[in-house]
Amino acid sequence: MTPRLDGLAALEGRGELGYSPPVRYYLETFGCQMNVHDSDRMEEVLHAHGWQNTPTPDEAELVIFNTCSVREKAEQKLRSEVGKLAPLKAARPALVIVVAGCVAQQEGERLLKQIRHLDLVIGPDNIPELPKLVTSQLGGSPKTARTEFDLVETHFLASSPQGGKTPVSAMVTTMKGCDERCSFCVVPYTRGPERYRPVDEIIADIARWVEAGSREVLLLGQTVDSYRDSSLPSPNTGDPDESQFPFLLKRIAKEIPTLARLRYTSPHPRHATPSLARTHAELDVLAHHVHLPVQSGSDRILKRMIRRYTREEFVERARRLLAARPDMTMSTDIIVGFPGETDDDFEATLSLVREVGFTALFGFKYSPRPHTPAKKLADDVPEVVKAERLARLFAVIEEQGATHLQSLVGTSQEVLVEGASKMSRAEMGLRRVQGRTVRNEIVHIEVPREAHVEGQLLNVDVVRANKHSLEGQIERENLARFRRASQSESPRRALPIFAS
Ligand code: 5AD
Repeated sequence: MTPRLDGLAALEGRGELGYSPPVRYYLETFGCQMNVHDSDRMEEVLHAHGWQNTPTPDEAELVIFNTCSVREKAEQKLRSEVGKLAPLKAARPALVIVVAGCVAQQEGERLLKQIRHLDLVIGPDNIPELPKLVTSQLGGSPKTARTEFDLVETHFLASSPQGGKTPVSAMVTTMKGCDERCSFCVVPYTRGPERYRPVDEIIADIARWVEAGSREVLLLGQTVDSYRDSSLPSPNTGDPDESQFPFLLKRIAKEIPTLARLRYTSPHPRHATPSLARTHAELDVLAHHVHLPVQSGSDRILKRMIRRYTREEFVERARRLLAARPDMTMSTDIIVGFPGETDDDFEATLSLVREVGFTALFGFKYSPRPHTPAKKLADDVPEVVKAERLARLFAVIEEQGATHLQSLVGTSQEVLVEGASKMSRAEMGLRRVQGRTVRNEIVHIEVPREAHVEGQLLNVDVVRANKHSLEGQIERENLARFRRASQSESPRRALPIFAS
């Protein structure tokens, strides 16, 4: 099927479109890594049809908002951003405005009624149909909402790395949807039930990225560690929470040996089983870091959240993972002010943050979401109390994070360089780049201006800790080699990797 070529070419041929092809689009992304990933796939689908992106809506024929609805604030922001386009649409009625992603899935047709200048609403599973649907809009079709889950014929859009734009760290989807029923969470509604991508497709996607120059892969899934694929061995442990995720990690490590680092997000604590911890100890390619969302440290609240673990169970699972590597760190997500959360419940959360020793966290004030079981509960923690709890939570994690960063000063770290830092010191023949350690700390490093270090693993001495990052220097011995190499080699060629 070539929807664009048939439909659009016909309209172009008859001169019925109010613009000159190719279609120029403006795309704005809100929300999580899954949305960033979906936006990348959307761009690939549009580029495959010869469409081009523009930096602002002003010169675009097509504006797409890829949206998030996990918290009310994100949804409000989207509504206000789309609202701002009303004058542009009034001036150029042929402009096609699209809302994609989770708000689209959640609201469907309703959104077309609520936002008058909106033309198209498209859910996360309908991305491949985007060019066809936009083409119809450009040809004057009525406003449309398309929000069907691909339950019968599930598909995952394969990545197609664009020349010159390969990220050092590439995102690869392993599953979509969520079968948990956490009472606060809209995701099962906006992303549908769990569907798993076949392991061979995942491996092929990773191989494509690595071939194109990526060094790290971040596996994505709403509950990434619930992964299943019939071609992998059965876990056979009798533990109902055991998944085949560890086997997936092992297959990737074995079949893509040149991959420098492998991360995943976000696991559900339920599947953080002993075999996952053992896999962390076994596989050198796995990052020494896990983001394990806990949400609350109070058993009473965990139960009301339908998280399906107790505080004690979480601590046991977290400790097991942390013990897999001597330098392993952990971050988490926490919701404050869930309905019925008392001061004591919140104190339990603070004590859990200390007990586990998280080095970073994302904290959120509870916000009621449509279609969620918790929406029926009174949102009874006052806004000021939520704000105060969040501030106290942040104070605790800031201190733990700072202590952790400080403990790294004076150590040597292997840093995977991701790209340029904002501040450069060109006048001294140096520029600043930034990368990440095997855990996840951001490190800023000064390197000779002519050295091409993006995508390389560098051994770096940590000389200072900032509030949320580290300052590093290339080890002196390597710097000398660097200088010699840059003098003798063409500056365009990547310099050798100095780490083992
Ligand atoms: N209110 C506040 N935070 C929420 N999250 C999910 N749903 C809500 C909600 N209704 C947070 C959780 C989750 C993260 C992605 O967003 O902490 O892990």
